[in-house]
Amino acid sequence: MSEQGTPRHVAIIMDGNGRWAQQRGRPRLLGHRAGGKRLRQVVEACPGLGVEYLTVFAFSTENWKRTQIEVAGLMKLFRQHLESEAKGLEEAGVCVRFIGDRVRLEPVLQRLMAELEARTAHNTRLNLTIAINYGGRDEVARATKRLARDVAAGKLSPEEITDETLPRYLDTHVLPDPDLVIRTSGEARISNFLLWQSAYSEYEFVDTLWPDFTPDTFAEILGRFGSRSRRFGAA
Ligand code: IPE
Ligand code: IPE
Ligand code: MG
Repeated sequence: MSEQGTPRHVAIIMDGNGRWAQQRGRPRLLGHRAGGKRLRQVVEACPGLGVEYLTVFAFSTENWKRTQIEVAGLMKLFRQHLESEAKGLEEAGVCVRFIGDRVRLEPVLQRLMAELEARTAHNTRLNLTIAINYGGRDEVARATKRLARDVAAGKLSPEEITDETLPRYLDTHVLPDPDLVIRTSGEARISNFLLWQSAYSEYEFVDTLWPDFTPDTFAEILGRFGSRSRRFGAA
């Protein structure tokens, strides 16, 4: 990606739902609900803004540490969104993929995820990747396990393991690396998101809480990206 371009792949850590609700004296789940609505708007804005790949962090491998009520509420919300948004996403030309370890998710959720992926696989207008039960370290560990199996089976020699072969085992193997990673809510950390893939990504940490993140805010950030100079280690 050269200067002044639009980032082809944008990844977003959608943070701040809880605080958004708290500020209104409402339960955290209300913030997650508002966040879901925002995501829909941001997805719709992507093609017009020139973004080809959007990857969003919806639930981390560490988020199981939250109260049972919040976790159950989030899982229910994911299920509801998958059911209500499937048709619209398919018709809007969005190709949906999920990254993360699905095994721990409820079977009904796993089924809806697989169905949505199959149903939208032919779409090319926008590539939307949703990270659920995703952790960068967990992803690398799972990838390493598969890689080790291939080595044990004689399909790959240890000498063939390079920074090009390893990422083929990651959940993101079909995606380009993110050009820009945005985190909302004012926290300046990556919280285990896309560790390998974001090695050379640009970062934007914005104070806006995710439920307040409008397509206009998004467009403004993308505009700033245009004036950044990426060198990838070169002089
Ligand atoms: C992000 O919002 C959504 C998830 C992690 C599921 P938070 O729920 O982390 O909101 P804050 O950070 O507590 O405000
Ligand atoms: C990161 O946010 C995960 C998601 C946005 C899904 P967290 O709120 O879980 O991260 P920490 O706890 O502030 O690092
Ligand atoms: Mg948070």
